[in-house]
Amino acid sequence: MNMANDTRREFIKKTGVAAGAALLATTPARVLGANDRVRIGMIGVGGRGQDLLKQVLAVPSAQLVAIADIYSRRRDEAQKLAPGIRTFDDHRKLLETELDGVIVASPLHLHAKHFLDTVAAGKDLYCEKTMTWSIAEADECLAAAKKSDRVIQIGLQHESSGALADTRQWIKEGRLGKITHVESWMSRNTPHGEGQWVRPVPPDCDAAHTNWAAFLNGRPDRPFDGYKYMNWRLFWEFSGGNITENMVHQIAWIMSALDLPLPTAAYMSGGVFSEKNGREVPDTIAVTLDFPQDLVVTWQSTFSNSRYGLGERLLGSDGTVEHVAGATDMVTGRSQEETRYWPERINNKKDSALTSSTPDQNHMANWIECIRSRKTPNASVDIGYRSAVAGHMANLAYRTKQRVTLEKAREMKA
Ligand SMILES: NC(=O)c1ccc[n+]([C@@H]2O[C@H](COP(=O)([O-])OP(=O)(O)OC[C@H]3O[C@@H](n4cnc5c(N)ncnc54)[C@H](O)[C@@H]3O)[C@@H](O)[C@H]2O)c1
Repeated sequence: MNMANDTRREFIKKTGVAAGAALLATTPARVLGANDRVRIGMIGVGGRGQDLLKQVLAVPSAQLVAIADIYSRRRDEAQKLAPGIRTFDDHRKLLETELDGVIVASPLHLHAKHFLDTVAAGKDLYCEKTMTWSIAEADECLAAAKKSDRVIQIGLQHESSGALADTRQWIKEGRLGKITHVESWMSRNTPHGEGQWVRPVPPDCDAAHTNWAAFLNGRPDRPFDGYKYMNWRLFWEFSGGNITENMVHQIAWIMSALDLPLPTAAYMSGGVFSEKNGREVPDTIAVTLDFPQDLVVTWQSTFSNSRYGLGERLLGSDGTVEHVAGATDMVTGRSQEETRYWPERINNKKDSALTSSTPDQNHMANWIECIRSRKTPNASVDIGYRSAVAGHMANLAYRTKQRVTLEKAREMKA
């Protein structure tokens, strides 16, 4: 499918970045010898940060040197996982140390700050998704990335999937014909009375063991709130809800598969329907994104039913691609993950059904390799940018209860 069009050209003109084009990085922070291990630091070692920490430890060519977290409990936990590392209570001190790359796994509203500070300090960067909390911040981070020659990977790990590589290939070979609709969904469930994502507040999660001002990052000051500190995902000030937690992964995958520019408009309905526990972000969501050249992408999500797991269906005149993960198999009750292609017999008599078999790449190892090679990682800042803007357009549509065009979204405050 050829998505070259005015909006895409405008995007490229505005940002100077062609989708999928290499943001060529040429100068490593230091010249890495063949036997040198890539020195890594981390900002934010909570739930996801500790997963990523273990991923770094598993890459033999990398060395975890230091972490920064404003919560003493998290610093202690990281030290237990990686004895001997240095720990800091301020990310600026970490950025002063000798490191090649820095991983940012702080809450969403802090990504832009940590992204910009890391790039300004001359370190390569792995920034968790969603790239930023707002469209304005996404513009700022993209501009900073363009001006620098840093190697930047966004934590959209499905960009390293074999299924994406195969799907792109099938589209390139023309097997799907004209794709007018992509439908996608993501669903989870929790026991009655327990809301998705809600975490208990540890007894030491207080003003003495954290840095509340650093967490608030310019949001209005108020007394320490442990519930919000632990459960920032539930509140708009810090999060974009399930759009920035999960839709972003799937919309990035779809945008990469079809080489899509930014959406032209977004619609979103839904609400807090599953567990009315004070959360602001909706648990039930139906998003429609309009793209240029006759394409609509829909994404729906619930936190009250998990039978269909998550998936994407690319619906073309000549064929279909379906990726399904975590759905409950009707017969066995087990969950499964598969990406398949089927021809549409009416327009495509000769093609046969196919199943994706290309193995996934290790997303973390891909970034570490790119720090050495100065190549562009699988989830570049460009797809980080496009998927973030698409998500923020959807949330703006939900919050203002209207259709939001790209132009309007750029004028609206987050
Ligand atoms: N790629 C994925 O599949 C995936 C999965 C889960 C989470 N994530 C992303 O990872 C990020 C972190 O999520 P999480 O669940 O680990 O959150 P979390 O609350 O468990 O961890 C955040 C950590 O950041 C620390 N922190 C807060 N403010 C800080 C500051 N100013 N400086 C330094 N540290 C600070 C907190 O103390 C905490 O340890 C989010 O952006 C989330 O969307 C990605």
